[in-house]
Amino acid sequence: MAIANQKGGVGKTTTAINLGTALSAVGEKVLLIDSDPQGNASTGLGAPRRLRVKTLYDVLMENFPIQAATMRTALPGLDLLPAEADLSGVELELGQTARRAFRLRDALEPLRAGGAYSYVLIDCPPSLNLLTLNAMTAADAVLVPLQCEFFALEGLTQLLRTVDLVRGALNPALQIQGVVLTMYDRRNSLSAQVARDVRENLGETVYQTMIPRNVRVSEAPSFGKPVLIYDLKCAGSEAYMKLAREVVGRERAQRAARA
Ligand SMILES: Nc1ncnc2c1ncn2[C@@H]1O[C@H](COP(=O)(O)OP(=O)(O)O)[C@@H](O)[C@H]1O
Ligand SMILES: [Mg+2]
Repeated sequence: MAIANQKGGVGKTTTAINLGTALSAVGEKVLLIDSDPQGNASTGLGAPRRLRVKTLYDVLMENFPIQAATMRTALPGLDLLPAEADLSGVELELGQTARRAFRLRDALEPLRAGGAYSYVLIDCPPSLNLLTLNAMTAADAVLVPLQCEFFALEGLTQLLRTVDLVRGALNPALQIQGVVLTMYDRRNSLSAQVARDVRENLGETVYQTMIPRNVRVSEAPSFGKPVLIYDLKCAGSEAYMKLAREVVGRERAQRAARA
């Protein structure tokens, strides 16, 4: 599942970390792939740079086997394929190589066959670049975090068009898992207004669960911890647990529809 939105700061990385944690808490085996050269998902999961031995760069550019590049996190059900700044070179280095959009899909093939993970989450960079294309080409579905702010829907058209393009040219099976409203502030009437607008426009695509704006969520990464570990009882943790159950429910329904 690619977690994508070309806007920065909308909650992609926060959702990747905490949805990944919540999924592992309900018994799923999860791999989080950090596909942002900023490496925030890696840091937020307690993998400082000195501990990142192999990264997504080695997998994409050096054909390093993905199983050997993943690392454990503090959570038994959650593994990480970390990222470093060198990942930003991929776009230029791949140039016009054949299958340049299929690098991640090809690298993930042994995992699909092996069945070690029930969910693979890919934290995308804030851009519709080659890394995001690789994520969408490798994924079965896209999950879109949308921040509850005035310009929430702006840019979404472009994102959905990209999903259509990928479906047409690279990955016919690609689905939209859902859109999750993030940083919802119930004391702010604009938040409610935006949530209403988004639901009117996108209907069922939008998850029931909204992620509230919650300081515990924003504090957790500086301790290298998911919020579910940092403060299990806070509103942010509860929301991500709820979202995980919704995601699993949708995944089962979508799989049944495919079969
Ligand atoms: N629910 C939330 N409540 C409070 N702060 C949040 C929440 N979700 C994200 N943030 C903060 O917003 C900023 C951007 O989030 P991030 O997940 O890094 O976005 P992206 O990956 O889309 O750039 C971070 O500082 C993060 O801690
Ligand atoms: Mg991010």
